[in-house]
Amino acid sequence: MLTAQDVLKRAYSVMPVMVIETIEQALPMAQALYDGGISVFEITLRSDCAVAAIELIKKHMPDCLVGAGTVINIEQLQAVHRAGADFVITPGATTELLETARDQNILLLPGVSSASDVMQAIGYGFNVLKLFPAEVVGGQSMLKSLAGPFPQVSFCPTGGIGLDNYRDYLALGNVECVGGSWLVPKSAVENGDWAEITRLAREVTLVS
Ligand code: 3PG
Repeated sequence: MLTAQDVLKRAYSVMPVMVIETIEQALPMAQALYDGGISVFEITLRSDCAVAAIELIKKHMPDCLVGAGTVINIEQLQAVHRAGADFVITPGATTELLETARDQNILLLPGVSSASDVMQAIGYGFNVLKLFPAEVVGGQSMLKSLAGPFPQVSFCPTGGIGLDNYRDYLALGNVECVGGSWLVPKSAVENGDWAEITRLAREVTLVS
């Protein structure tokens, strides 16, 4: 069975945070990232076609791990699970989401932004967590501080991370992967400049 640790390991070092505005963008965007060496995605529920995009990418790119992001309620959790998402990422964590994911064996990387959030997530059995919004809540110093009391937790920090600082995050012992939207710039998507997205992905995958 796929675990959250497997997701981080497969992601290798970066997880693109994708906003897919039209269903026609779904496969070219995923393929562009794949061509650049990335096969683990977070597709955010910030557009009407997000759930359909998850389903489509899962169907056509079975080698990839497709995550659903920006899931903030149970209805969305169930919808993306039904659509075949391999894992779910939430910006924060409600007890309802934690409980449902645990009880229904849905692979969840819950969002946290404080020590209390981490304690709550651990209490429900989750120890691979998204730190969000990473740069705003303390970034690398926050992660270093959380390593002491929570040595069993791995973080995927996201929010404000880009080419200039992602390696510093990856150098931390409790970070295996970072998330970021810089790999899929809006301008490139709007222009259908898929080669640019492959180039940005390679900038990361060829060095890490
Ligand atoms: C997210 O949803 O995880 C963030 O909005 C991504 O943050 P970024 O745009 O700063 O990478």
